[in-house]
Amino acid sequence: MKNSTDVIASFQRAGQGQVFAFFDQLAPDAQRRLIEEAAEIDLAEIERLHRTLVTGHGATGLDLTDLAPAPYEPRPEHGGDPAAWAQAKAAGEAALRAGRVAAFTVAGGQGTRLGYDGPKGTFPVTPIHGKPLFQVFAEKIRAAGVRYGRPLHWFIMTSHANHAATEAFFAGQGYFGLDRGRVHFFRQGRMPAVDFNGKILLESKEAIALSPDGHGGSLRALDRSGALDRMAAEGIDTLSYFQVDNPLVRCIDPAFIGWHVQRKSEMSSKVVLKAYAEEKVGHFCVQRGRRLVIEYSDLPMAQQRETDATGRLRYIGGSIAVHILDRDFVRRMARAPVGQDQASGPAMPFHRADKKIPTIDRNGAEVKPAKANGVKFEMFVFDALPFARHPVLIETLRQDDFSPVKNAEGLDSPQTCRDDQRRQFARWLQANGAEVETDATGLPAAKIEVSPLFGYDEDSFADAWKKLSPTPPVRDGLDLA
Ligand code: UTP
Repeated sequence: MKNSTDVIASFQRAGQGQVFAFFDQLAPDAQRRLIEEAAEIDLAEIERLHRTLVTGHGATGLDLTDLAPAPYEPRPEHGGDPAAWAQAKAAGEAALRAGRVAAFTVAGGQGTRLGYDGPKGTFPVTPIHGKPLFQVFAEKIRAAGVRYGRPLHWFIMTSHANHAATEAFFAGQGYFGLDRGRVHFFRQGRMPAVDFNGKILLESKEAIALSPDGHGGSLRALDRSGALDRMAAEGIDTLSYFQVDNPLVRCIDPAFIGWHVQRKSEMSSKVVLKAYAEEKVGHFCVQRGRRLVIEYSDLPMAQQRETDATGRLRYIGGSIAVHILDRDFVRRMARAPVGQDQASGPAMPFHRADKKIPTIDRNGAEVKPAKANGVKFEMFVFDALPFARHPVLIETLRQDDFSPVKNAEGLDSPQTCRDDQRRQFARWLQANGAEVETDATGLPAAKIEVSPLFGYDEDSFADAWKKLSPTPPVRDGLDLA
């Protein structure tokens, strides 16, 4: 542990002495914890972020000059070359058979919109059995390991707040049949919240208001935790990145992996076509030869609505936060200095979010703010894209890869996600000749659930279905375990 006198002195020098305002009243254990939290903080980084992102002096602002829509590989049904897609798939399958690929889930978010008590990955999502998100991914990963004859490693990034509960959940469920030696948990980093004057906020007399540093913090966390070394030792150079809240995702997708490895890409991303101009997604753009994602809140509405000569949206490629990362690229990004403007080198920028941050006043009394009282700093993983060599963007269909659970009700809720899973099962069945009654949106009338252990994508489902003789009727419901 760092010497407490030194830590306190450094905070005082940085004008952050308020962090220790109640230090003398604390029990020795609480003092030790507070010093440990404080020692995690890079005071120069906080000062720089406050200067650039909060007060605005020296802020570079977002550069939107020379922006154009990013090119992507269209799917065969949208004009892509079927032979190139087939080749990519074969290359991805070879990489999987060679054991080069690991799954990577970012599960460190706070999930405030869903309002669920517990790690988001433990939230029940499937239509009949209510399997938790983690189980859906575990079974897809397990089944892919069997299909390609190489069990996969799975890296899971947690937060300080949910790490112990996540590990306990997996242990309690027997790791869902995965080899526990291949499931690796590690915590992401934390950042302190500051008030609008740049002062670090206390959550209580004995704790700093710390929160996860964003999914972009995953690159640093992969490095710091030893996960990258582990990958190197296992011969893994390719990480399939996905979010914990999207059970539809093809988390092990041979074609995607293949495009990535064949092109020697350092970071690849899946693109969905925007459903309408104003859809709130990140937009894939290109700027002076670099690929980047511009958030809907940053791209002027006129550009979001721009159409080409045929009437098609120009900025049509939306991000669904599904990526493939090269191991050495992650290492390079993780070790680059953070928080600088992009022009000065390969650095992940921080973003500012104004939030209501529970804190205490100068007398130590609790404050539950009614409006934003401070700022949190987060990194976003897509900000690594401009620094990647040979990046590849490929089109995917939303129905095959994206139906997140973000909100308790309405858009992107458990209900919409269950329905999208049921539509997917119905499509797989119909594609294999089964009779399935659906409404105009493709939602089946019958209750259907397909376990990923039976089939986790179109191909694996088709193979398993063909082996059933006779195939079961769907009309009264179907539960394929
Ligand atoms: P979201 O941006 O949806 O945030 O995260 P969230 O924290 O889960 O939910 P809200 O906004 O509080 O309602 C997208 C993905 O990134 C992960 C989340 O776990 C989710 O898989 N994430 C987000 C992290 O791993 N760490 C973070 O610091 C933030």
